[in-house]
Formats: sequence, structure tokens, C-alpha cells
Amino acid sequence: MIAISVNGERREFDAPLNCADLIARLALAGKRVAIERNGEIVPRSRFADEALLDGEHVLVTSGPTREPIDPVRYVSNRSSGKMGHAVAIAALRRGARVTLVAGPTVLPPPPGAVYVPVQTAEEMREAVLQHLDAATIVIKAAAVADYRVKRPSATKIKSNKDEELTLTFTPNPDILKEVAARKGTRFVVGFAAETDEVRTRAAAKLRAKGVDLLVLNDVSQRGIGFDADDNQVVLLDRWGGSIDLPTMKKIDVAGAILDRVLELRAASRPSSRDRASR
Ligand code: CTP
Repeated sequence: MIAISVNGERREFDAPLNCADLIARLALAGKRVAIERNGEIVPRSRFADEALLDGEHVLVTSGPTREPIDPVRYVSNRSSGKMGHAVAIAALRRGARVTLVAGPTVLPPPPGAVYVPVQTAEEMREAVLQHLDAATIVIKAAAVADYRVKRPSATKIKSNKDEELTLTFTPNPDILKEVAARKGTRFVVGFAAETDEVRTRAAAKLRAKGVDLLVLNDVSQRGIGFDADDNQVVLLDRWGGSIDLPTMKKIDVAGAILDRVLELRAASRPSSRDRASR
């Protein structure tokens, strides 16, 4: 049995319920929230201590893209969407409006997000650009396929065991680079999935893509990164900062990314006193 008290008013629930979102919203609204599980008081919701995103509109991309070969086959990658969805959920819990552009994933759309399902990199690009204007923060966690099949077949390719099959690939647009190039006052976060020389490559990617913050993911390590529930990342920013985070649940990594975004944005903006003295 779970009981939740809000400003001293107590309600009991028989079924164990997933009340994280409710608690987060109440805590963010400044209510005193106490939770009991089987008569034991659960420590105060940690959500109350989190930085707020009220008034922010976070545009998140998540999951892989799927590039068709023919009507029944495609090229894709191992991204599950867990990291991107966690970012969307964490942003919603902190009071942001969230638009989630997601490639194919089995994960359910987070309640409260504007959910835009896409298949290919080109569809993802179109959806991102369509929702960019409203966004104040863009977080591109999707694993976008770098190439697509140049001429997908309109009909199923028949097998011919006597011949090799050759597919020609053509580069997909780099959505993150395009977003960063037209970012205006938005804060733009990219991810880097690397398997070797991870820091050098990530530092180069941070500069090449023109993002404010890059989340480095070493996807060669087992148990973290692709399709895992945990992740271990390094946060590299364009002001030269580098923070190594320990292995954490993806939802906590998402929270740490959002905290860092707010911290960096506050530090990079001229203070109101500076502006007044100009
Ligand atoms: N990305 C993108 N569009 C692409 C490729 C990548 O927007 N066509 C974004 C991803 O969403 C991620 C970042 O760029 O935020 C880095 O993706 P990653 O796969 O690590 O790097 P690539 O740019 O694809 O470069 P490489 O595969 O050579 O490492």
C-alpha cells in the first residue's frame, strides 16, 4: 500500500502505482509531498531538488533511423531509444514542454510529450526543422544512419543465390550540424557514439558539429550505451569543460545533462547587470 500526503492531506492507494510523475509535478509546484510505502516514510522526493525547466521547450530526438532497401528490408543500427526517451521524461518531470522526434522503437511515447514518430533520417530532419522554431533547447540523442540506400527498390528484391548483391549508399543529411548552424539563442546538445580514441574523436565532433554540449558515449563497453539501461558518459562543452559522470541509470544521466545545460547557459549569458552597464 502506498500513501501520498500533499500539504498534510493524506490519500491511500491499494495498488502499487507508478507515481513518479505525479510526485514530481506536485514537488515542482512547491507542495509539501510525503510518501509512505507499507507504512514507511519514503525519503523526500529528490525531484524537489532538481533544476526547473518551466517555460522551456525541449526538442529531443531518440532511437535509430531505418533506411529502406526495399518494401520489406532496411538498414538500421542498435539504438533502442532508451537514452533519448529518458531525456524527454526527465525534461517533462522538470516542467518543460517536450517534443520528441523518435525513430522506430518499442518504447511507449512519454505521456505529456508531443510525439513525432519517424522512420528515416530525411523524415527526422524534416520533423526536427518543423519543430525547431518553438524549441529553446535541442537534444539530439538519436542514432541517425549516416547513409541511406541510393535507390531503394519499389518491389521486394528477389534472391538469386548465383549472384552477389551490391547496394549503393548515399550520405544522409547531418541534422545536428544543420540545427547547430541555425541555432540562434537555442542551446544545442549532441551525442557522440564512439568505439575508439573516444575523447579525441568526441572533441573533434564537438567542434565540427558546432554544438554547445556533447555527450560522449563509449559504445564499445558492455552494459552501457546501446540498448542498456545504464550509461556512462562524459559531458564536453564548447567552453572547454569536461565532466566524467559515473555509470548511472539513463534517467539520471538525462537529469545530469539537463542540469549541465542550465548551468552552462546561465554562465554563458551576460548577466542582467552586465547588460544594464553597456
Ligand atoms: N547526427 C545527426 N545526423 C546525422 C548523423 C548524426 O543529427 N546524419 C547527430 C546524432 O544525433 C548525434 C551526433 O550527430 O547527436 C553524433 O552522431 P554520431 O553517430 O556519434 O556521429 P556521426 O556524425 O554519425 O559521425 P561518425 O559516424 O563518423 O562518428
